[in-house]
Parts: sequence; C-alpha cells; structure tokens
Amino acid sequence: MKVNYLKLNSFRNYLMAEAEFVSGINFVFGENGAGKTSLVESLSLLSLGKSFRGSDDEELIREGDDYAVIKANVENVGEYLISISKQGKNITLNNQKVKKISDIISACRLVYFLPKESELFHMTPDKRRRFLDLSLSTLSHSYIEEIGKYRYYLKALKDNYKFHDEDYQNIVISKLAEYGNSVSQKRRKIINRLNQELQEIAQILLGDAKLQLSYLANINSENVDDYQKKLKDSLVYKDDKLAVRGIHLDDMQLTYEGRDAGKYASQGQNRLGVIALKLAMAQLIKKSYGQDPLLIFDDVLSELDSEHKKRLLTILKNYEQVFITGVTCKESDVARYQVQDNQVRRII
Ligand SMILES: Nc1ncnc2c1ncn2[C@@H]1O[C@H](COP(=O)(O)OP(=O)(O)O)[C@@H](O)[C@H]1O
Ligand SMILES: [Mg+2]
Repeated sequence: MKVNYLKLNSFRNYLMAEAEFVSGINFVFGENGAGKTSLVESLSLLSLGKSFRGSDDEELIREGDDYAVIKANVENVGEYLISISKQGKNITLNNQKVKKISDIISACRLVYFLPKESELFHMTPDKRRRFLDLSLSTLSHSYIEEIGKYRYYLKALKDNYKFHDEDYQNIVISKLAEYGNSVSQKRRKIINRLNQELQEIAQILLGDAKLQLSYLANINSENVDDYQKKLKDSLVYKDDKLAVRGIHLDDMQLTYEGRDAGKYASQGQNRLGVIALKLAMAQLIKKSYGQDPLLIFDDVLSELDSEHKKRLLTILKNYEQVFITGVTCKESDVARYQVQDNQVRRII
C-alpha cells in the first residue's frame, strides 16, 4: 500500500496541513507534542475507520472547531474523504459511502506499532484479544461479523437466563457455540501462521533469541459439538449472574527463550517481541495477498540500541511504504518530513 497524498483540516493540532508521501520509509520527525503521532494517526483511519490510539472520534476534531476532514489518495485504491463531526462520521472512498468497516480494512491493510503496545504481554487479556481481532479482521472478511454475532448471543444468553426458558436457551447456546467455535478455529489458525512468520523475523531481528506465540483458548474444542458441550457444562448461575466460558476470555502468550515474556522478559525484550509480532503480521499479509500492508511504526527507534535499530530498518525497507516517527532523524536514505508549527514539510 502507498499513500500518495494527505490533507488534514481541523484534525487534532492541524488547522490545515498537506503532504505528498513517497515509496519506502517516510520518516516524520519533530519535537515532543509537534503532531507526529497525530499525523500518522490520521492515516490509521484510512484502514480502520477509527483512530489506532483508540480515541473517540470527537477527540480528533481540533479544539474549538466543529468538524475534521481527512482527504487522502492511496495508490490503486483511490480517493478517501473522511469527515468527523460531533454528530458522527462519514467515510467515502471514490465518492461511495463506506457502509462496513470490513470493506476499508481489506482495501488498505494496515500494520502499526505504538510505543504503549510494548507492554502488550503485561496488559490485561482484552488488549491481546483486541490485537487478535484486528489482525483477523485484516485477513478475514467475515470475522468482524462473526465476532459481532457472538457478542450478540452472549448478551442474549446472559440477559435472559433468569427466565429459564430452556428452548430459548438451547437455541442461543447453539448459536453461541457456532460462532464461538468458528472464531476459535480462526484464532488458532492465525496464531499458528503468525508463529511461523515470527520464527523467521526473530532470526533477522534478534539473532538467536527464540520467540514462540501460543494460543490460550478458553474453550479447547475439536469441533462445534465439542465446543457446545464444553460451553454448556461450564455455565454457572449465581447471584443473578451467569458465568459463561468461551472465546471472549481467550488469551495468547509470548515466550522469549522459553519463558513467559509478560512475566520474565525485560522491557526491551518485550518491546522487541511485540515489534517482531507486528512484523510477522506484516509478512503474513504480504504472503497472503501478494501486496504489502501500510506500515506505521510510531516512535519505535528511540528506545532501541543501534544494532536492533539497524536490523529493524533493514526489514522495514522491504515494504512498499512505511511511516516511522521520532524526535530526530539520523537515518540516511529515508524521506524526511518535519512537523513544526502545525505544518508538515518535506526536507530534501
Ligand atoms: N483535538 C485536539 N485539538 C487540538 N490539539 C490537539 C488535539 N488533540 C491533541 N492535540 C495536541 O496536538 C499536539 C500533538 O500531539 P502528538 O501528535 O501526540 O505529538 P507528538 O507525537 O509529535 O509528540 C499535542 O500538543 C496535543 O496536545
Ligand atoms: Mg507521539
């Protein structure tokens, strides 16, 4: 993927800013608070339809303004127009209204790294499920729908359990098992495939250090009947609340040299582990579609030693277009963009 052109109006700190980007590494540099992350954040909306920082849409509108607009051109995809107001958001791609986020996720596949994600394996499991869900949404068109239906039936089961209508419960449980089992199989498959890529990436990025990703499925099932049985057996109704096991409680684990990264690896090793995982995801997309994802690595170099920096840049150079942000840019053979006074300027 390649973003050719971007224009921001009233987005975050930018009143009006525009830039043309190039193939290869686009290095965005500037002082703390200059607007580097905000700039690349606007690109995340082209794929995710929302901020990769997890911010509410309203926070993206420049303080004091009524609405924000992002205009962009992505090579071989087309013209994006995203407008965000307090009333809502409208996304068009080539003048067609985007109705489902899954449509733009697959039009412009994105892999990003944010510094706070270094702690991914120290965080609560929901953050790792979010990574899995986003990765799967990028690789499977039907995934978002399935997980949405699963959540719907989970809520239906919990809300209606006290009425003890067994027929209704059985229908809901069978639906829950159908979607739960399907999601679980997809998660198992992607973790296996990510793990294969991870072995190769780890060798280039880390040398000898061995990384291993594993799926901690809350219900380990062979098939949908098995899932349904285990789900049903696990139900516990107590104090007006129903406890349900299933994919909403899944987790994954990264081991670094055979030891649980979340528990034993250093901060730097965790950061490298998560970076390797993101690169594995990028490689998986590249292999699956024969097309590079857009890569955004926010503030990734500052905490790395020079050897790992060099190795990471060597890997990143294999992608069609990569955005890296940092306070200073010491790299040669990258396109440099300076963010200053709420403007973006290419430095030649
Ligand atoms: N909605 C907003 N309106 C105006 N300014 C904002 C808004 N959201 C964030 N900012 C400001 O934008 C600036 C840039 O933030 P950020 O992109 O995170 O900086 P950097 O990544 O360069 O350190 C910060 O000073 C922040 O306070
Ligand atoms: Mg930043």
